Amino acid sequence: MLDAGCGTGRMLTHLAERGVAPLTGVDLSPGMLAHARRGHPGTPLAAADLRALPHATASLRGVLCWYAIIHSTPAEVATIAGELARVLVTDGVLLLGFQAGRGERVVDGTAYRQQTTLHGVLHEPDEVAGLLAERGFAVLATARRAAVGGERHDHGFVLARRR
Ligand SMILES: C[S@@+](CC[C@H](N)C(=O)[O-])C[C@H]1O[C@@H](n2cnc3c(N)ncnc32)[C@H](O)[C@@H]1O
Repeated sequence: MLDAGCGTGRMLTHLAERGVAPLTGVDLSPGMLAHARRGHPGTPLAAADLRALPHATASLRGVLCWYAIIHSTPAEVATIAGELARVLVTDGVLLLGFQAGRGERVVDGTAYRQQTTLHGVLHEPDEVAGLLAERGFAVLATARRAAVGGERHDHGFVLARRR
């Protein structure tokens, strides 16, 4: 299973603890990958863009794409959907999570003792599902949950199977 946009490897840990194997991961950020490699020394992790994955066509049985499309525009998500369809085998499973809504997500805060502004992109679950359906997936489920606690946005989830 591929953790697509694995970041620091948080979800690799989650998957490994549940017996999912073999695991692999990609992320655009060398810093995130360095952190992930420390926690997962035996797992192949590559620096790659979700829009151009290094994996062979039909080589993966599952992809988790957990909060990794949150910096991608809908047009970029369409490209990512096509790439995920390419690397998955028929009946391979894809699960995405992301902040739900429309437009840009701007979060002002403090990180590393500096005032920072993070920019992200919100996506509607039905629109993500539509992009996946156009690119070779059968959408099995979409879900949306309301923001809780200090969260500023709803969260969206799409589960799909490669046709
Ligand atoms: C919010 S983090 C989530 C990390 C991890 N999936 C988790 O749930 O802990 C988003 C990650 O997606 C990566 N990312 C964003 N756009 C990407 C792209 N086009 N290709 C590869 N990685 C990307 C970022 O570098 C970042 O590590």
